[in-house]
Amino acid sequence: DFGKMPDGTEVQAVTLRNDRGVMVRVITYGARVQEVVTPDRNGHGADIALGFASLQGYLGRSDPYFGATVGRFANRIARGRFTLDGHTYQLPINDGPNSLHGGTMGFDRRVWTLLTVKQGPSFASVRLRYVSPDGDQGYPGALTATATYTLDDHDRLHIDYRATTTAPTIVNLSNHTYWNLSGEGSGSVTHERLMIPAAEFTPVDATLIPTGAFSPVAGTPFDFRQPKAIGRDIRDGRSQQLLFGRGYDINWVISRHAVAVPRLVARVVDPRSGRVLELASNQPGLHFYSGNFLDGSLVGPAGHTYRQGGGFALEPQVFPDTPNQPAFGSAILRP
Ligand code: GAL
Repeated sequence: DFGKMPDGTEVQAVTLRNDRGVMVRVITYGARVQEVVTPDRNGHGADIALGFASLQGYLGRSDPYFGATVGRFANRIARGRFTLDGHTYQLPINDGPNSLHGGTMGFDRRVWTLLTVKQGPSFASVRLRYVSPDGDQGYPGALTATATYTLDDHDRLHIDYRATTTAPTIVNLSNHTYWNLSGEGSGSVTHERLMIPAAEFTPVDATLIPTGAFSPVAGTPFDFRQPKAIGRDIRDGRSQQLLFGRGYDINWVISRHAVAVPRLVARVVDPRSGRVLELASNQPGLHFYSGNFLDGSLVGPAGHTYRQGGGFALEPQVFPDTPNQPAFGSAILRP
């Protein structure tokens, strides 16, 4: 029991554990990762995912998508408009002039249905479903989405998203967990070392909409091909792109198209705790956001405030604004 929505709907929490001391808690509100406990190099556990102690925190308007499943369309759509099969659709504008993370009432703010909880010999899993009606937030087609979280004995957390639709629509589902490998609320992540195996990124305008270009990372603060501390180049005032995002808030091109089998898209090493996070995905893009808008006004489960850079999000997805960018491929899902 994780509390009740204002209309009385119950929100549930499911705890997945393995016998190596890893624990992941998922809540049905937004199909969110609420807590991830892993041991450090000395075996001491800490929660490395930012979040709130109770449902109340998540319900606040200033929740920055902590742990959330974002959809129908993760990231931005310019002016909230796109055209599909000759029809133009208008989505809610909730980020400057643009639509962000599915609109004002995205998948992150819905109570998902708990479908199954399984405990196998070497894994534990939970599957959730949300049915988004035709026209929900302006998107066409009724979309049935499932999110499955599986924790295995190799300390891997698998996140599997599936969706079907009754009419042509666009979809881009991602997970928005903010990580701090030293522990949530422990301070800044700028000392953590990040590697992203991408030679290009998609530059943006002042409203964080891609210009449509592909830019080489070489010689820019966006070059993470060799591991480097997140904070090493984050204050480089010569980079207009860093100024637009107030830090890192941009999409890397892992490949131009999605691939069949997930491959490594990021690796983060925390020298302090010894924790390592490896992220694999089959998606073409990786959005890296360095927690720039955290401003000390939110308090995590251990009672510490989250300030700028107090966590980072790595969001595998199609490139931002794909529906309006001919060079970016397609985000269309047909019945
Ligand atoms: C990120 C987005 C940021 C910010 C954040 C939530 O995914 O790229 O610009 O909106 O979510 O605060």
